Amino acid sequence: MKDAIYGVILAAGQGTRMGLSNQTGGKVMAMVQGEPLLSHSIKKLAAAGIKQIALVVNPENKQFLQNYAGDGQAWQVQLTYVVQERPWGIAHALGLCQSFTRQHKVALLLADNLFEASVTDAVQRFAVSGSGAKIFLSKVKEPQEYGVAVIQQDQVIRLVEKPKQWLSDWAVVGVYLYDATVYEKIKGLVPSQRGELEITDVNQRYLEAGELTWEALPGWWVDVGTPERLALAEAHLQTVRAL
Ligand code: G1P
Repeated sequence: MKDAIYGVILAAGQGTRMGLSNQTGGKVMAMVQGEPLLSHSIKKLAAAGIKQIALVVNPENKQFLQNYAGDGQAWQVQLTYVVQERPWGIAHALGLCQSFTRQHKVALLLADNLFEASVTDAVQRFAVSGSGAKIFLSKVKEPQEYGVAVIQQDQVIRLVEKPKQWLSDWAVVGVYLYDATVYEKIKGLVPSQRGELEITDVNQRYLEAGELTWEALPGWWVDVGTPERLALAEAHLQTVRAL
């Protein structure tokens, strides 16, 4: 049965490495092609037919983002604001959204991830018949900077967050589809060395339960964490618009 998928966008990053501050909305207000990352993200989920979206913000950037995005009418979605008091990780942020998504499936998007492909098909397939978790992978040159998936015979056999030694060049992209059991998997996670509840550990739990599927994400993908990567995203979008 087709179920409405709820969206969660992680918008709590301050963006210090990019010279940004919470007072002006933090990282998600970095501009790419004259539009904040946040708007690109909302559009991505809206294009996939998602109408209910929670923005996970921090206590300092909440007001700015609320003034900017309001209730989401500009994108024809309904926005709800969820505050993450401290940067305790992506899985922690998603855990805060349980009473928002309730029994619905959820599409989680990290607002600093920009990518060319549409996820509309994948989201709609997941809405109709998906269960467990679906992750998207993209080949990268610096896998040590991401969560990576080790693939054998087309199956993910292991997930590792920022491996120090080379294990795979398949990086896990910051867009994830989950069924409502995700909250059970978040419960009982322990913080990693960087003091965060890791989304990779959530995905690993799905993997161990035999409930994880993956797709390769076609086209370019940029995790916008530094001014250099912001420039890269800008260049990619420029090419797309010039076609
Ligand atoms: C996060 C995830 C990582 C993923 C990346 C994608 O990394 O932990 O697994 O590959 O996003 O952008 P972070 O940005 O928290 O370092």
